[in-house]
Amino acid sequence: MSSKKIAILGSGTGSNFTALAEQFRDQITLVISDKEDALILNKAKDLNIPTMHVPGGKDLSQRLLSHLEGIDLICLAGFMRLIREPLLSAFPQRILNIHPSLLPKYPGLCAWEQAIEDNAKESGCTVHYVDAGMDTGEIILQAKVPVLPDDTPQTLHARIQEQEHLIYPKAVRKILADLT
Ligand code: GRF
Repeated sequence: MSSKKIAILGSGTGSNFTALAEQFRDQITLVISDKEDALILNKAKDLNIPTMHVPGGKDLSQRLLSHLEGIDLICLAGFMRLIREPLLSAFPQRILNIHPSLLPKYPGLCAWEQAIEDNAKESGCTVHYVDAGMDTGEIILQAKVPVLPDDTPQTLHARIQEQEHLIYPKAVRKILADLT
């Protein structure tokens, strides 16, 4: 098994964190949230994984970087902040994100709502590298789901999330295997 260390950054419920922890528990050495009461922090604490609250605001990427020494791979899992310099250059091709659409379609917020409003027949999720843009980095893995006629934003998001929990660990395994 790879000995590379993973940090996870999230702002929300942390279901993708859980999916990753099921496969990489021993390698996840830090979970950071910009929200002090985020469920993802409670889930990490339940697994005895060190957690940290790093509030948003000025120089967020600089402050995040100061806590990430010794980390090999950063996984964003519902982290609602843009990653900027100097963090990007410190982790080239080593910051991943999961997004709930088939990028480049529907970047940004509430991608599942965008799919429904667009009358899309299918949507899905994407694991991609993080760059300076919003959901614009190189695509690593995608999974498709159908958009059904009676879907609500909630039912579509739930269907997409089932796939997220499968492809995120798969993508991380591949990236870890390629890390030198
Ligand atoms: C996921 O839908 C992910 O694609 C998006 O934010 C959501 C996070 O969900 N970036 P969770 O906190 O992992 O449950």
